[in-house]
Amino acid sequence: MSVTAGLAIALSKGRIYEQGLPLLAAAGIRPLDDPETSRKLILDTDRADTKLIVVRASDVPTYVEYGAADVGIAGKDVLLEHGGAGLYEPLDLGIARCRMMVAGKPGARHEGPGRPRVATTYVRSAARHFATRGQQVEIIKLYGSMELAPLVGLADLIVDLVESGNTLKANGLVPLEHVCDISSRLIVNKAAWKMKHAQIMTLIAALRAAPRP
Ligand code: PRP
Repeated sequence: MSVTAGLAIALSKGRIYEQGLPLLAAAGIRPLDDPETSRKLILDTDRADTKLIVVRASDVPTYVEYGAADVGIAGKDVLLEHGGAGLYEPLDLGIARCRMMVAGKPGARHEGPGRPRVATTYVRSAARHFATRGQQVEIIKLYGSMELAPLVGLADLIVDLVESGNTLKANGLVPLEHVCDISSRLIVNKAAWKMKHAQIMTLIAALRAAPRP
């Protein structure tokens, strides 16, 4: 089970942390350190029974699946790749909203014979999207900076997250197809759901009631 007898909440730095903090505060949970400056990975909060565990976004479901954290805040993009084993996903927090899109150079869909090459971090989501369309593609896994791939001939298309569209535009790319809408979800370890039910239900109710920006 988790590192605390109370509740351990896994989340990542950056957008999810920034947008998740006001929701946690509305639930009465305020970290005593800032992970951007302290470099601590386990943050005490003003509640003795609650700790925050700061991990990479793509690792949040793993910590929760294995019970190293009781609950977590993870993007739907990451959850789709993880597959959801060992987890419940009881609440859409409605934060860190964006879209998963197919993108490429203008007109890229119509270019060239054969299977288009698609660069993405989101291999499962991309494979499902193109399979649903009956389109054969070659998927190339990347860990970041996907917008570069069509510019240097690594891939014809990318599947990536788009929020403002500025990154695509800055690199001369255009959105071509909508894959799915993305937002952050509260996830819960299945054993913790039973063992810490009252505590987790209280957290879910408080997060659900928290005002959204
Ligand atoms: C995400 C995503 C795009 C960018 C889109 O990257 O991968 O590159 O944001 O945002 P925009 O549409 O507002 O320009 P992020 O900045 O989260 O960094 P990452 O590549 O490390 O995930």
